[in-house]
Amino acid sequence: MTASLPRASVRETLAVTAGVLAPMLAQGVIVRRPAMTVLADRLQTDRRAAAILRGLRDRHGAGPVLLRIPGRDLAVVLDAGDVDRLLAGAPHPFTPANREKRSALRHVQPFGVLISDDAGRTVRRPWNEDVLDHGADLHRLHERLVRVVEEETDALAAEPVLTWDRFHQVFWRIVRRVALGDPARDDERVTELMTLLRAQANWAFLRPRSTRRLRELGRRLQAYVADADPLSLAGVVARTPAAPGTAPVGQIPHWLFAFDAAGIAAYRALALLAAHPDVLAAVREEDPADQRGLRPLARASVLESVRLWPTTMVILRDSVEDTEWAGRRARAGTGFAVASSFFHRDEENLPWADRFEPEIWLDGRAEASRALVPFSAGPARCPGRTLVLDLTSELVAAVVRDRGLTLSGPRRLDGGAPLPRTLAHTRLEFRG
Ligand code: HEM
Repeated sequence: MTASLPRASVRETLAVTAGVLAPMLAQGVIVRRPAMTVLADRLQTDRRAAAILRGLRDRHGAGPVLLRIPGRDLAVVLDAGDVDRLLAGAPHPFTPANREKRSALRHVQPFGVLISDDAGRTVRRPWNEDVLDHGADLHRLHERLVRVVEEETDALAAEPVLTWDRFHQVFWRIVRRVALGDPARDDERVTELMTLLRAQANWAFLRPRSTRRLRELGRRLQAYVADADPLSLAGVVARTPAAPGTAPVGQIPHWLFAFDAAGIAAYRALALLAAHPDVLAAVREEDPADQRGLRPLARASVLESVRLWPTTMVILRDSVEDTEWAGRRARAGTGFAVASSFFHRDEENLPWADRFEPEIWLDGRAEASRALVPFSAGPARCPGRTLVLDLTSELVAAVVRDRGLTLSGPRRLDGGAPLPRTLAHTRLEFRG
């Protein structure tokens, strides 16, 4: 009989719990808690987390290591090859509808593909790919979203200071128009409902579901699809055939939830550009007419933003059958956790781990590093990637075109020092 995965000691388990998992939970896995994000930045929690995981790898080897958590087999993944294998193996033998994710996300998107069982995933995944134009260079709503971004960012040009709160407000107007249509531009109740439901989701199984809020959200989304603005995702939803069991409107809460990450990624990309004037100048010069409508460098800057500070802090999977890892066995039902920033900032293997190096997304280096997974990988890879990069690259380009961009908050990202491992976006501020 094969031995089971190596087990962390009690002391190591406590270190991982306190130094890796607790900071993620405290910052809020589903919606960020601003005060905790600032604290995590002060303490640079991701640096400490990486040191703990490196120690675990040094002592136990590269294979996954099981934590000693009563009632739950949870293994931390420590090797880039294992990340690849785990993500390639969705949904069998590694289901994305993992136990912790199900208990958190049921609060806000009970019909979402990410937490669906096999039958649900079979119809919902291709439908999401279809509506979101997964794998395309640009989303079919590209021209529309360029116009929306231009209209909504116009006001920012004349404002001397750009803060996160202001950016967030403008960003959500853009998202509501692109996702739900022009009539939703000022429907702040939709965004508020999402925030309230996500705050509950942060507490996962400790909190009951608010069916009242979920129903209110569902009614509003249904209304936007029923009377759809044709130039919005709601319009695409209304036109796209759906197999029985798809729950088309039930997919939208995940999109709205995930757009928040896109806003954070774009705002941090602005900070990176502000601190790297040469790249900023090149982004300003970029002409999509020469690039089949794309903005490669603006995109690469957003990708660097999510590499350096992954918005999905941990990728979770559960195995649905026994699996073998270099001669060791993990029982069916074992959870696997990939702490993204551990791999994205692996200074032992990535010479540019702590630098802003957008070229890696253009010259094949990022693709060759199998554990750079800001949008996950494999069959459950983010189907919103095309739309996210389309929208955020246009947004970044519009902001830098229209205004000066000097980073003026407490954080400095220039001067050649290694970039901070944890970055509170809420504290970043720009002057013209
Ligand atoms: C910066 C922005 C975003 C990032 C970094 C991101 C990243 C990710 C990651 C890492 C996953 C896999 C999660 C897991 O396995 O647990 C995922 C899944 C997913 N994302 Fe995104 N996402 C972003 C925005 C979006 C947006 C805006 C949409 C929709 C409009 C979207 C749609 C989805 C869907 C539907 C899934 C579930 C896929 C499945 O279960 O097969 N994402 N995303």
